Amino acid sequence: MPLTPDSQLDLLFPAELISDDVRSQLHPDLHMRPLASTDYKRGHLNVLSVLTIVSDPGEPAWVAQFNAIRALPKTYYTIVIIDRATDMIVAVGTVFIERKFLRGLASVGHIEDIAVDKRQQGKKLGLRIIQALTAISEKTGCYKTILNCSNENIPFYEKCGYKTKENEMAKYA
Ligand code: ACO
Repeated sequence: MPLTPDSQLDLLFPAELISDDVRSQLHPDLHMRPLASTDYKRGHLNVLSVLTIVSDPGEPAWVAQFNAIRALPKTYYTIVIIDRATDMIVAVGTVFIERKFLRGLASVGHIEDIAVDKRQQGKKLGLRIIQALTAISEKTGCYKTILNCSNENIPFYEKCGYKTKENEMAKYA
């Protein structure tokens, strides 16, 4: 199935927020856009499964989650890269905007859930996703953009211009 144009999709946020500069560096067979309400069918959960355990809630529950996320204005920005020939997702990533009371009511961008389909890894798709998400974070006024990752992924994020700072701590329920 060929690429569905953005104009026929119900998108999570306005596509104009995605940097033209980053888009222009993608291979012409690929297209970057915001997550759409029909992306359950385009393999969204499949791509995320390279990152961690993903259980399939079924399409209605997926769409309910999409609508709940979209109801939070200017907070969640999930972008996908689509293979134009198949209209399927090959890479995904999110930046979540946290509003603070400190630093003059500043905001911080949190990069989350970056995943590239195994067959497409090593082709700069992860880099393009990080560049696009960082640009959204900066465009929306965040004074910094941060993320947590494994030691194995540190070289990748360094290639994307990120530096190690402090420690991550976690407590699982
Ligand atoms: N170790 C060393 N260098 C790396 C690694 C690595 N693990 N991964 C990528 N790089 C380098 C590449 O060689 C490339 O360097 P170059 O510019 O010198 O050629 C540069 O980083 C950019 O790499 P990309 O091709 O953009 O990487 P890719 O598209 O494969 O995406 C990613 C990297 C996202 C880690 C991907 O491999 C993936 O999906 N892995 C599984 C899921 C995962 O670990 N996601 C990140 C979790 S952390 C988070 O979500 C905040």
